[in-house]
Amino acid sequence: MTQKLQAPRGTYDVLPDQAAARRWIEHTAERLLEGAGYRRIETPTFEATELFARGVGESTDIVQKEMYTFQDAGGRSLTLRPEGTAPVCRAYVDHGMQKLPQPVKLWYLSSFFRYERAQAGRYRQFWQVGAEAIGSDDPAVDAEAILLLHELLAELGVGDVRLRLSSLGTAATRAAYREELQSHLRAHADRLSEEVRGRIDLNPLRAFDSDHPGTQEVMATAPRLLDRLEGEDAEHFAQVRALLDAEGVAYQLDHGLVRGLDYYTRTVFEFTSDALGAQSGVGGGGRYDGLIQQLGGPATAGIGWAAGIERILLAAEQRPAPEPVVDLYVAYDGPERRREAFVVAGEARRAGMSAQLELAGRSLKGQLRHAARLEARYVAILDGEGMRLMDMETHEQQDVDSAAAVVARVIKGRHPA
Ligand code: HAM
Repeated sequence: MTQKLQAPRGTYDVLPDQAAARRWIEHTAERLLEGAGYRRIETPTFEATELFARGVGESTDIVQKEMYTFQDAGGRSLTLRPEGTAPVCRAYVDHGMQKLPQPVKLWYLSSFFRYERAQAGRYRQFWQVGAEAIGSDDPAVDAEAILLLHELLAELGVGDVRLRLSSLGTAATRAAYREELQSHLRAHADRLSEEVRGRIDLNPLRAFDSDHPGTQEVMATAPRLLDRLEGEDAEHFAQVRALLDAEGVAYQLDHGLVRGLDYYTRTVFEFTSDALGAQSGVGGGGRYDGLIQQLGGPATAGIGWAAGIERILLAAEQRPAPEPVVDLYVAYDGPERRREAFVVAGEARRAGMSAQLELAGRSLKGQLRHAARLEARYVAILDGEGMRLMDMETHEQQDVDSAAAVVARVIKGRHPA
């Protein structure tokens, strides 16, 4: 027997029963974000590999281990997008959006690809809803972005949410801090995990992320970046915090908040949900004031976030209402009445109804059973005696002489006088 094929590891099918919940997330995000002046953007599924190498950062796990990179037939190195920020910034530069009133506010809901260890809440193809506000370094943009994600998660009923907040300062602050941290790590190298020790030069900040007990002890006494913020960096962060405080949004300052992408400057944040297991991050983001320049564009500030659709679905307590029922089912007693059945169903659909007709050659009795299973409100029955309309709640039948009469009768039933 030929072997049955399955979806690749870490991917999944979205079945019809799951579509309504995803549509509800999309509609909620659309209403909220468009209402705040964000407009939707869709970038290509694959991009030049260099975009992510330069944008996300050579030293990140994403670029080092997780990208789906391939060569196309023309010999170009391409990569399935592992995230959305670098592509949106590329599009901003490509389309000269710096000429538009700033900040340019864009949102997306797309699929992304990372070669990660697959488990509940972590996939190799996953979906994110994300928002990016490009072209202003005003702390009000940071606060608004965080508030919008907070509101989105609340509206979707994502339970037990916590907001972790930090600031990384500018590249210069971080470079000085990095050296200080490296000295601290080197001084305690014997107590660090081998992985952290091996990355002291490349990415010392990742040491905060480690769950190795010795490393955690060393990090408890490590210098903290938040204590090193100075001048405008410190002022910017203070204003972001003041705005969040004024809005009554609770957050925890997290000195060890490490995001897995290198482009961040100043504000970074992450929403976690205790309703999730090990993969507790529902959404996160931050400011990336150097990214556009790194991609070859003019010096431009930016901030944004993305939230995982699968994780929202896992953590959300609310569920959308069930799909609407079938207004009309068209039953008929043989192929010679098929054309007439199409006419009736077509007329009903043009009038905005959800209408189905028999497609599997069932007996009339079988068709009525099928219509009941579909919870059809009315059934039009076409047989040798003409056409009748049956109300599936009362089982009353009424003769009707045309498709238009069927439609009129169903509309009347929907809106009784
Ligand atoms: P990220 O933290 O890598 O940030 O991903 C954002 C969210 O995507 C995570 O919080 C999680 O919910 C979801 N996610 C990430 N990887 C997976 C996976 N393998 N399976 C399922 N869900 C996943 C970014 O991607 C940044 N581009 C966010 C951003 C926008 N920063 C600034 N602007």
